Amino acid sequence: MVELRLPKNSCVGQGKAWSIPSNGKTRTFKIYRYNPDDGSKPKLDSYEIDMSECGPMVLDALIKIKNEIDPTLTFRRSCREGICGSCAMNIDGTNTLACTKFLSEVQGDVKIYPLPHMRVIKDLVPDLNRAYAQLSSIEPWLKSESPTRPDQERLQSPQDRRKLDGLYECILCFACTTSCPSYWWNSERYLGPAVLLQAYRWLEDSRDEHQGERLDNLEDPFRLFRCHTIMNCSQTCPKGLNPAKAIAEIKKMMIQRQF
Ligand code: SF4
Ligand code: FES
Repeated sequence: MVELRLPKNSCVGQGKAWSIPSNGKTRTFKIYRYNPDDGSKPKLDSYEIDMSECGPMVLDALIKIKNEIDPTLTFRRSCREGICGSCAMNIDGTNTLACTKFLSEVQGDVKIYPLPHMRVIKDLVPDLNRAYAQLSSIEPWLKSESPTRPDQERLQSPQDRRKLDGLYECILCFACTTSCPSYWWNSERYLGPAVLLQAYRWLEDSRDEHQGERLDNLEDPFRLFRCHTIMNCSQTCPKGLNPAKAIAEIKKMMIQRQF
């Protein structure tokens, strides 16, 4: 009989609880904690905070907890306005950005986990090394041979520029990629929605002259075609982008180039 086991450290235990006297304005935050250095399994710590002294976003609460209650809490953040992509995490069951997620949108206790199915470095910080290596593999920069005058930009018509709308806005937070079951099970070989949206952004750029080579690089049963149109990616994207459509467009390009 097949014996299935959960990976070591995958069961989340009960952690510490920090309480304050209730004043009718307290809220409880249940936050995933994991420190690979202390040898213990992950746990869910619980923090109560006074919402009358906290900003409106989930990131405000995390910063308040770190500054005033528990300085060991570890998470990434930088811009605090949905631009850098570093505060992506799973909040209330959905991958999103802590800095643009209103606390008022969450009912009851606020449950916060790292992006799912990634190795956790510490607490809410996932290891994105593989995702960045996959991004690098699609060569996300303009590749062009035709000479331009040194004092002239490489021009693009307004119509061609508009084709990049809905693509260039991606902030590479990987909320989409880590919501995708195909990526969960095949992350060594499937590129995932964030990287494929980037791939399409360069395939669609009228100034790029390496479209054929870019498509060759994606023509593989796993790198592109492991997308099964599950659509979690487009539902979860905190920037309102549609990676599933970008992937479908690449598949269409693959077919069109055969005729
Ligand atoms: S497509 Fe959306 S969810 Fe995916 S990496 Fe880009 S911004 Fe993040
Ligand atoms: S802190 Fe930059 S996107 Fe949230």
